[in-house]
Amino acid sequence: MTIGIYFGSQTGKTEMVCAKIKNELGDLSADPKDVSEVRGDISQFLEMDGLICAIPTWNTGEEENRSGTAWDELLEKIGNLDLRGKPVAICGTGDAAGYADNFVDAMEELHRYFEKAGAKMVGYVSTDGYTFTGSKSIIDGKFCGLPVDEDGESDQTEERVKLWCTQLKSEMGL
Ligand SMILES: Cc1cc2nc3c(=O)[nH]c(=O)nc-3n(C[C@H](O)[C@H](O)[C@H](O)COP(=O)(O)O)c2cc1C
Repeated sequence: MTIGIYFGSQTGKTEMVCAKIKNELGDLSADPKDVSEVRGDISQFLEMDGLICAIPTWNTGEEENRSGTAWDELLEKIGNLDLRGKPVAICGTGDAAGYADNFVDAMEELHRYFEKAGAKMVGYVSTDGYTFTGSKSIIDGKFCGLPVDEDGESDQTEERVKLWCTQLKSEMGL
């Protein structure tokens, strides 16, 4: 089994979180890749047994292109892939105190396009333990991925990532 880890990042926080995810998964995953480097060649997503995709939110309150990273240009292409049955998990970095009304909004946008491609979405997380007022990334009462707040709650990142990776191992059958 090889799980691909892909991230978009402006200031390195999402990249750093992916390094922690890789650390937890060890040989089960490939080294994290910046999506700006795979632009145009997302066919490599098809070769992976599963995907973990990490995305920050920079375009506060926007409906479209919420991340402000290379993911935004890939969304339509992702939606047109055939990823039927492939397990895909989303991780979103954000700032719950600074952007409380729009916490990790970009996760839902990426989630939507992978779902359109037929992927089996996994890695949903309870909102318990997060303090915020609004997020577009809540589906049926849960976050549609793992929110990580490196701005205000970096002391919780290690534990959040650890728990999530245990969940993914079970949900992805690793
Ligand atoms: C101008 C600006 C806008 C931001 N907008 C949001 C937002 O709407 N929602 C959110 O959760 N975080 C927001 N953030 C926080 C970033 O998403 C967070 O710092 C993220 O970890 C950055 O990831 P990166 O370093 O990988 O680019 C914003 C930060 C800045 C500086």
